[in-house]
Amino acid sequence: MFDEDIETIKKQNMNLADEIYILDTTLRDGEQTPGVALTVDDKIQIAQKLDNVGVDKIEVGFPASSKGELISSKQIKSLNLSSTVVGLARSVKNDIDAVLDADLDYIHTFIGTSPLHRDYKLKMSKETTISTAVEAVEYAKDHGLSVEFSAEDATRTERDFLFEIYRDVVDAGADFLDIPDTVGILTPIITRDLITDIKSNFKTPISVHFHNDFGLATANTLTAIECGANQAHVTVNGIGERTGNTSLEEIVVALHSAYGIKLNVDTSQLYSLSEFVGRLTGIKMPVNKPIVGDNAFAHESGIHVHGILNNSSTYEPISPELVGHSRKIVLGKHTGANALKSKLKEYHIDLNDEQFDKVFNQIKALGDKGKCVTDDDLKAIALTELGSARETPIKLKGLGLLCGAIVSPTATVKLEIDGVEKETSDTGVGPVDAALNAIRDLIQDTMDIELEEYNLEAINGGTDALADVFVISSDKEGNKSTGRAINDDIVMASILAVLDSINKLLLIKRSEI
Ligand code: KIV
Ligand code: ZN
Repeated sequence: MFDEDIETIKKQNMNLADEIYILDTTLRDGEQTPGVALTVDDKIQIAQKLDNVGVDKIEVGFPASSKGELISSKQIKSLNLSSTVVGLARSVKNDIDAVLDADLDYIHTFIGTSPLHRDYKLKMSKETTISTAVEAVEYAKDHGLSVEFSAEDATRTERDFLFEIYRDVVDAGADFLDIPDTVGILTPIITRDLITDIKSNFKTPISVHFHNDFGLATANTLTAIECGANQAHVTVNGIGERTGNTSLEEIVVALHSAYGIKLNVDTSQLYSLSEFVGRLTGIKMPVNKPIVGDNAFAHESGIHVHGILNNSSTYEPISPELVGHSRKIVLGKHTGANALKSKLKEYHIDLNDEQFDKVFNQIKALGDKGKCVTDDDLKAIALTELGSARETPIKLKGLGLLCGAIVSPTATVKLEIDGVEKETSDTGVGPVDAALNAIRDLIQDTMDIELEEYNLEAINGGTDALADVFVISSDKEGNKSTGRAINDDIVMASILAVLDSINKLLLIKRSEI
């Protein structure tokens, strides 16, 4: 779509508020994510980060719900953050008092308004529901609080009753009307109808609090803002009850990218904020999570990488720098020559055409085996190829095996290490284990290795099958390397695969990169 088309669409279909605020509820609704429990210290650290990022309001908790909640709310308030600190309260005096005890001056008070909540949870008539809400708002206002009122389960509430309760709480002094989609049933079209109706009937600023049960929270929140909503409730990484809430990073970036709306949020901190909250909550993001997932700016296919290398906008909607993330070129079965060339350039590895083809084919073959080729693998494969003209540091010079029912499997291995021959014997649970133990003994002065993965496949069926062994070894510095060998003897294939990976690790260690 061209810029002029977008401008026309905006004019015809949007009713953007002059100012749009972000209320982050990671520390309240986000903490209601099943399995998440934050300490007072965790909450303080997250609140400080949210304040640095620039969200307008931080809902720090539900002070009446526990001593810890009261303490953390009070301590966060005492930090004098730039963001407004908000406390949640049911429409009951005790809850409002807890918000006052925490020294907060902004309350988010709510009552269930849908028939389901009135009949099965509150057991209140419509009249009592309204009078309870009004009394709560009046009480909070009388105590000097700014009041945001939520009609819980608003989206399953009769429209006329919803308007009635909103009208009465506005008369009682509510400063903000919040519309929670408590069980996430909205769609963009229904959102549009609801928000447009509310905006044309109320002058009080409105806020939306949408859940993500159908994966539509961000789309619905964006629609609500397009129709005039003044504030969005969000959480970092979209965490929250069940499938979560509207995600901070998604809505901020969507507003920025679709409409150039910058808000007060520093987008360049969004990725680090996501990582931080992920670490403290223990909720790891899926790789395909928009904006902050590992794959948000990762590219593997040859066509895409080619485009990206020429101009990153070809396959990226925004630059990773905008949100503090980074671009990743991944090697695998879809890798094209351009991606490989750029990676080799990055690591200053200069291959001739023949060597390049060999490395390229090895990467494709590993990809076909379902392996993702890491940067360490690539370095090892490429350096081995470069070094194949040179001598490999370690060579197998001899192997003897002793197996049987009454003796421990024993292997005698002779290696040439940097031109010096060494021989030793060791035992193990089987012949492969015994041989690998003997190798470890022989190379221990040269390097300390760990066998991280060992995979044995028979290339064709039958007792004369070729053994195809694939291993991953690592050294103490955390370098990893793959090794592979095919042999008609399982022990031999295992030893050669392990030596292959050890030689690559040594080449990495001894190379300049
Ligand atoms: O989802 C919801 O309805 C809530 C209320 C407390 C506003 O979180
Ligand atoms: Zn909620």
